[in-house]
Amino acid sequence: MASAVGHALVTGASRGIGRAIAAELARRGWTLHLASRSADALEEVRRELPTGGASAGGTSAERSHRIHPVDLGDMEQVAAFAERLRAEVPRLGLLVLNAGAAISAPLEETSLAEWDRVFDLNVRSPFLLTRELLPALRAATGRVIAIGSVVSTAAYPGQGAYTASKHALYGLTKVLAKELHADGVIVQTVLPGGVATDMVRTMRPDIDSTDLIQPQDVAAAVGSLLDMDGSALTDEIRLRRRGKSPWA
Ligand SMILES: NC(=O)c1ccc[n+]([C@@H]2O[C@H](COP(=O)([O-])OP(=O)(O)OC[C@H]3O[C@@H](n4cnc5c(N)ncnc54)[C@H](OP(=O)(O)O)[C@@H]3O)[C@@H](O)[C@H]2O)c1
Repeated sequence: MASAVGHALVTGASRGIGRAIAAELARRGWTLHLASRSADALEEVRRELPTGGASAGGTSAERSHRIHPVDLGDMEQVAAFAERLRAEVPRLGLLVLNAGAAISAPLEETSLAEWDRVFDLNVRSPFLLTRELLPALRAATGRVIAIGSVVSTAAYPGQGAYTASKHALYGLTKVLAKELHADGVIVQTVLPGGVATDMVRTMRPDIDSTDLIQPQDVAAAVGSLLDMDGSALTDEIRLRRRGKSPWA
């Protein structure tokens, strides 16, 4: 049994994994709210999506996908965006916390400004956005899916700020899952290894690009979380590159 479709917010929907998740959700009939900094890129994504499904209810205008250009690394913009969205979408069925940034540097060479930039987008923003959208998520008995990483639980040298931020997001996801359990709001996470996007090309140029996970495979994992809506649930899905050793 798949989750009932409705309105979904995908952060970082302009490219990479977020774009693939948006395509997967639109195909399933969700009405999408696409957020990132680039209005042009979001508009291009929006144009390529099938219109939100009839099962989401409402008029076709209410079911059309919308773009939200916003810098999610700026907490004032995050708060203002959440307020606008709450007014526009009183019932939010799905929040996909995907937008993220990484830097490649040993901790010794990481400036406080770089550390803060990574934590603002990867940790503070998901916290604030989720907190502010909780009334809309509760109203829809919705679901939160956070895109973590293998570094949510492993230590990768040269990725200190990113690794620490993904550990923090993982902790946030776990506590949120427990705090919202009684309300019926489900909180889950997908933890992929290297995925073929702009981010990995910068962070891990050493990985053979033919051995990377495709963004569509992460989107499929999100889809399978939505499909698993009967008596059994899973809190997380870990995805490894096919070439990576099992149980590494
Ligand atoms: N690629 C991997 O190997 C990998 C592996 C595991 C987990 N992940 C995680 O998957 C998520 C998506 O990563 P990706 O690989 O798809 O990265 P990506 O290709 O670099 O895309 C990042 C997305 O986040 C948006 N974004 C970046 N800074 C933003 C800001 N300040 N405000 C709003 N949006 C912002 C970007 O859009 P704009 O530039 O338009 O703002 C873009 O849509 C991240 O959380 C990442 O940590 C990636």
